[in-house]
Amino acid sequence: MGAPFEPGERVMLLDARGRRYMVRLERGRTWHYHGGALPLDLLLGEEEGTVVYAASGAALVAYRPRLADFILKMPRGAQVVYPKDLGAILVYADVFPGARVLEAGTGSGSLTLVLARAVGPEGRVVSYEVRPEFRDKAMANLESFHGKVPAWVDLRAGDVREVAGTGEAYDRVVLDLPEPWAVLPALSPALRPGGILCAYLPTTIQVQQTVLALEAAGYRLAETFEVLVRSWHVTERSVRPDHRMVAHTGFLTVARRGAEAPPADPPTPLGPDGV
Ligand SMILES: C[S@@+](CC[C@H](N)C(=O)[O-])C[C@H]1O[C@@H](n2cnc3c(N)ncnc32)[C@H](O)[C@@H]1O
Repeated sequence: MGAPFEPGERVMLLDARGRRYMVRLERGRTWHYHGGALPLDLLLGEEEGTVVYAASGAALVAYRPRLADFILKMPRGAQVVYPKDLGAILVYADVFPGARVLEAGTGSGSLTLVLARAVGPEGRVVSYEVRPEFRDKAMANLESFHGKVPAWVDLRAGDVREVAGTGEAYDRVVLDLPEPWAVLPALSPALRPGGILCAYLPTTIQVQQTVLALEAAGYRLAETFEVLVRSWHVTERSVRPDHRMVAHTGFLTVARRGAEAPPADPPTPLGPDGV
């Protein structure tokens, strides 16, 4: 990072109207878009922020995409989790470097990508996906972003309930699937006591069923919230919210797992003399 652009890497090109294009650099290749043709060799060896001109004279500025830019442009099978929610998931589920995270379903892999970055090489992300075509898409997206699937990410084909037979232990569970309550009995033993479960759910009906199931399974500190991000238009002549926003994506429910078995008897309160 910070180095000049090289063949094989991905760049984000911005036109004069702020439209973004994601292009992979290749020596000798010409990239065509509605503004004209751009020989990609113009970018090789240049630094981020450089301005290049298509044959038509249209200017384009080149940057390396952020992970959030990549996620919004990458090929999708299932609906992805949006960047506004990804950030909140990392913070509220307290995903830390070195954490062991269980994820399901993998879908297109947007959550897998940010979890992998957050836990880093000392951590582990195990992600289950029941639909093989989605797993393949997620794998292609991880390979496209990282060059190859990071060694600490395990994309498993199958139902997340299969984790029950593995004997594995996790610090965090992150679920983006329609019926978390149906998989909870199978995966809960794999989440260590004190571990955090985070569920991303599009409707209030799913949220209620999930929270009730979590409470029945001994989870505590359940919190449910949504993330509203309103972007603003800022120019010399006007400063106001943008006319459009992504109003609803999903709700986040976060809860902590209790100890394996509840305490047998409550402790006897001490008398006034301390015995
Ligand atoms: C909305 S998508 C997940 C999108 C993903 N979080 C992303 O950002 O790209 C939900 C996925 O869960 C998968 N799924 C549903 N139930 C599952 C289960 N029990 N185990 C594993 N995957 C499951 C579905 O096949 C689907 O691909």
